[in-house]
Amino acid sequence: MHTPAPLNIGVLISGNGSNLQALIDACADGRIHGRINLVLSNKDTAYGLERARKSGIPCAVIRHRDFDSREAFDAAMTRMLHEHGVDFVCLAGFMRLVTDTFVDAWHNRLINIHPSLLPDFKGLDTHARAIAADCKTHGCTVHYVRPAMDEGPIIMQASVPVLPGDTPESLGARVLEQEHICYVAA
Ligand code: GRF
Repeated sequence: MHTPAPLNIGVLISGNGSNLQALIDACADGRIHGRINLVLSNKDTAYGLERARKSGIPCAVIRHRDFDSREAFDAAMTRMLHEHGVDFVCLAGFMRLVTDTFVDAWHNRLINIHPSLLPDFKGLDTHARAIAADCKTHGCTVHYVRPAMDEGPIIMQASVPVLPGDTPESLGARVLEQEHICYVAA
């Protein structure tokens, strides 16, 4: 039987990187047939960079503020991803909108995890909005990235109950636990 080549993964982050950690762990123990070639952050304070370093994964910071345009910033990211042999990109708490050019360059090789059951609650503050809307269930979605924000073919979703007395923090923690499972599975 022909075994497909391992995926060469690039992960884009802006912050804590707990989803990155889930991907690192899954590559290490074989649940993901691939390796993380590069972790890229737009912020030098992102804790995810520390996670990459601890695991011996190359990481770099490309500051969006150093560029005149989103196009130039995204082109720099694409260049560096190519330099590291990346062929599949995971957005994991990457808090920048990517350009259509970037989305086209990585068509069907670019996925995102979003903390809501899309198409509900695109954008930010999803947990507070789910509570305000009196939702009984909430969750997360892994999807292919398309030009419009938080849109694109859905690969996998996981749902959690919204419990009486939930705060955005308690609900967010319940969702995040599922994100780690869902992103790896997707
Ligand atoms: C996650 O909730 C993810 O869905 C959202 O940003 C958060 C990032 O968390 N896009 P982490 O950095 O992976 O811990």
